Amino acid sequence: MSKSIRKIGVLTSGGDSPGMNAAIRSVVRSCAYHNIECVGIYRGYEGLIEGDFKSMNARSVKGIINKGGTILKSARSKGFRTKEGRQQAYRKLIEANVDGLVVVGGDGTFTGAMIFNEEFNFPVIGIPGTIDNDIVGTSHTLGFDTALNTVVDAIDKIRDTASSHNRLFFIEVMGRDVGHIALNVGIAGGAEEILIPEEDLGLDRLVESLRKSRESGKSSSIVVVAEGDKIGKSVFELKDYVDENMSEYEVRVSVLGHLQRGGKPSARDRVLASQLGFSAVENLLAGETNKMVGMVNNEVVLTPFESAITHNKELNSNLLKLVEVLSI
Ligand code: F6P
Repeated sequence: MSKSIRKIGVLTSGGDSPGMNAAIRSVVRSCAYHNIECVGIYRGYEGLIEGDFKSMNARSVKGIINKGGTILKSARSKGFRTKEGRQQAYRKLIEANVDGLVVVGGDGTFTGAMIFNEEFNFPVIGIPGTIDNDIVGTSHTLGFDTALNTVVDAIDKIRDTASSHNRLFFIEVMGRDVGHIALNVGIAGGAEEILIPEEDLGLDRLVESLRKSRESGKSSSIVVVAEGDKIGKSVFELKDYVDENMSEYEVRVSVLGHLQRGGKPSARDRVLASQLGFSAVENLLAGETNKMVGMVNNEVVLTPFESAITHNKELNSNLLKLVEVLSI
C-alpha cells in the first residue's frame, strides 16, 4: 500500500457535463467524513500547473448538487500535454502537500491522468464525466442522462414544426466519435432515421428509406445525426443531397450544439455522481490508483485508465435493430 493519504485534490477537465458539481460535492464531503483535507483545483490541468488551489470543506459545496456546469471550471489544457507542464503540476501538488487526485472528465482527462501517474507515481482516481458516454467501464458517464433528456425535449419541440409544415428535419446532436446520444434520443424521440459514426449507410440508402416512409403515409420526418457521422461532410451536405433528390420534402437543419451540455443534472446523474465521488475517495484511501470508478449493473467497478479510454464501448445493438422496427 502507498503512503497514507491526508489531502486530496479534485478537478474537472475537458468538456463540462451536468453532474460534475454533484461529483465535486461528493468528493469534498467524503473527505470531510474521513477527516482528511480537500482542495479544489480550478480550470482542470491548467489550474494544476499554475497551483490555482482552494481549500474546501463540507460547506464550500452547499447548494451545488442541482447546478449544471462546474464550480471549479474546466479547460482543455495544452500545457499538461508537455513534460514540463506535468513536472510543474507535480511540483505544485508537492508544495501544497496534496497526496492524491480525483479527476472528473472524459478520455482526454484520463489520458493525461494516466501519463501523470506513470511519470510521477502520483495516486489518481478518475470519475467519468462527459455527455458523450464514450468511456469503457461504466454504463453511464456523468451528464449522459441529462443530455438525453435535454435533446429529447428539443426533438419534441422541433417535431411540432416538422408536422405542422410537413417538413423533414435533420437534427444534429453531439457525439464527436460515437453515436450513444443519437441512438438513444432517436429511439426516445421517435426518429425515422438515426445516423451514427459507427455505421455508414450511405446517402442513397438514406434517401431510399426516407422515400419509403413518405410512401407509407408519413408527412414529416425526423432524422437524428450524430456530430461525428461520416455519411456526409456535414449535416448541411445531407440536407443538400436530400433537397436535390427528394423534391417532395421541405428540408431543414437544426444543430443543437452546446445547449446539450448545460442545464441542471437529472436525478439519475446526481445519484451517479454522488456514488462515484464517494467511491473515488474510498479507493484513493485504499491505495488504488491509475483507475476510473464506474457503474456497471448497479455496482461500482474499477477500470484501469488504459482500458477506459479505448473507445470501444459497444453500442446497444438491440436499440439499433429497434430503430428499424419502430420507424416503419
Ligand atoms: O466531449 C464532449 C463534447 O461535448 C463532444 O460531444 C463535442 O464534440 C465536444 O465536446 C465539443 O467541445 P468544445 O466545447 O470544446 O467545442
